[in-house]
Amino acid sequence: MLSFRNKLKFDDPEAIRTISASTGFFDATDVEISVELAHNALENQNSICSNEEPNFLIAEDNGLMVGFACFCKIPDSFTAYELLRISTLSNYRGHGIGRKMIERLLKTVRELGAKKLFVKTEGTEKYIPTRKFYESCGFKLEAVLKEYYADRDDCYIYSYNFYDDEAANNIPAQ
Ligand SMILES: CC(C)(COP(=O)(O)OP(=O)(O)OC[C@H]1O[C@@H](n2cnc3c(N)ncnc32)[C@H](O)[C@@H]1OP(=O)(O)O)[C@@H](O)C(=O)NCCC(=O)NCCS
Repeated sequence: MLSFRNKLKFDDPEAIRTISASTGFFDATDVEISVELAHNALENQNSICSNEEPNFLIAEDNGLMVGFACFCKIPDSFTAYELLRISTLSNYRGHGIGRKMIERLLKTVRELGAKKLFVKTEGTEKYIPTRKFYESCGFKLEAVLKEYYADRDDCYIYSYNFYDDEAANNIPAQ
């Protein structure tokens, strides 16, 4: 059974390493950055810190970590958040875990006062499924930064716009 939690446990950074490496999308440096983010979040979670510090969402299937997402408030912004990392364990991909993580994340950041949630991804062919994933979760392409990552490797910036939700569903602005 799938369950979710925000609080990190001692051995989560290693599980995050396993998931990141399993995707085949990230190089060793990228994997290390995810592990480091988890170590920092684990250290900070018992102290009072701003929500500009990265926070995690963990998805588990009967106790096995099968997905994680990492997000933070964008420094200098009052209302914008960024999804820094999201991955599903490779053999669990395509079973709806990513969509469920996004749904939970949207609820969390909206309650924190987010008006927009941004995510950056790559423009290469390899990332077509990733871009389709964001689009299918309601993110809209906001900008393309040419040659951002490398030659012929653009940065695609997507955003989820909570103003649209408020207008469509008559939700009072928070
Ligand atoms: C992107 C990722 C987190 C999505 O998680 P997931 O659990 O596989 O996604 P879901 O099964 O919830 O898919 C949700 C929707 O996304 C779209 N989608 C997912 N995988 C897709 C694919 N390979 N091709 C096309 N669309 C896809 C579909 O619309 C799907 O909805 P549907 O199954 O109802 O058609 C996961 O595939 C992953 O870890 N990818 C590698 C790492 C990565 O790219 N991370 C993001 C870096 S920016």
